[in-house]
Amino acid sequence: MRRARIGAAAAALLVAAAALAGCASGATATKQIVGVAMPTTTSDRWVNDGKNVAAQLRALGRTVDLKYAEDDVPTQVAQIQAMIDEGAGALVVGAIDGTALKDVLAKAAAANIPVVSYDRLIRDTPDIAYYATFDNALVGAQQADSLLEGLGVLDAKGADTHVTGPFLIELIAGSPDDNNATVFFQGAMKVLQPYLDAGVLVVGSGQTDFATIATPKWNGDTAAQRLGPILDTVYANKRVDAVLAPADIISVPVLEVLRSHGYGTADKPWPVVTGQDADIPAVKALIAGEQHSTIYKDTRQLAEVAVSMVESLLKGEEPETNDNASYDNGVKVVPSYLLKPQVVTKANYADVLVGSGYYTQQELG
Ligand code: GAL
Repeated sequence: MRRARIGAAAAALLVAAAALAGCASGATATKQIVGVAMPTTTSDRWVNDGKNVAAQLRALGRTVDLKYAEDDVPTQVAQIQAMIDEGAGALVVGAIDGTALKDVLAKAAAANIPVVSYDRLIRDTPDIAYYATFDNALVGAQQADSLLEGLGVLDAKGADTHVTGPFLIELIAGSPDDNNATVFFQGAMKVLQPYLDAGVLVVGSGQTDFATIATPKWNGDTAAQRLGPILDTVYANKRVDAVLAPADIISVPVLEVLRSHGYGTADKPWPVVTGQDADIPAVKALIAGEQHSTIYKDTRQLAEVAVSMVESLLKGEEPETNDNASYDNGVKVVPSYLLKPQVVTKANYADVLVGSGYYTQQELG
């Protein structure tokens, strides 16, 4: 009897829960849509980011509206507005210009749509809930460490070899409207500055300030066009030993301008060129001995972090974070989850990139 009564009560509860769930899913059916706004398809990494975020959300039953804005800010604003208008329940945004989304995100906030800032910090707005990214300062430090290691100033274990140089280097930074570009550059310069101060490294062109060496829209051709005349003049009778390139989308055109200036030959060996993202053309350049290093950021993991943030937000739960201090967007410190980047060279690409299933050996040619 008692059992029967408990059973009846449980059944009643189940019916009530089902009715509630049915009601919730009916009333908020459009909340199943997650808008994913990505910056560009010009780099493998962003293509993978979009694919991974969309696939993981779909596997959880969400409808995904994935849009790429091809580095055009008004297009990205219009895409986000359309996501708000279609009743998205949450947004994941990889910004082009981190300072240009304030107004459209105010509209998202007015519609109670939580926003996860993806990879790049969205600035000057209270209307982002969380930030999913890699440790960007560490990316810069790893780029600088690998540059020093490529020059022989550090050994494979990262210890100073007391080689005195001087080595001639050039510096390139990313897009000034992308918060990451500043963080990468500052992270790198923290490591490089003591060697510049000691004269172990010398910037041949003398161009060291961020505004001069930055590359609007991460356009690799722009960076190559800045470097070309420097190679013609400053390096007319000497060799550049290293180039700090902030991402593969820049390092690859930089390798081409170096090649057109005779580098990659017995007379003029390749300088130590860094990168970031493990984009396929750059990994091929690592294998060919042209690019020294890239920084691998597993976009599958970043997608996982962003997707789990979205899921928590949609369920009214608090997403997991591991850094609540580093990323002040000008309005507030944004609770963040930072993943660890990893240096990849010719020596470990097979283990790290192929071994983890990120690429097949075939894709790398
Ligand atoms: C940065 C990103 C890098 C690289 C770069 C150029 O914001 O963190 O991984 O992709 O943009 O796209």
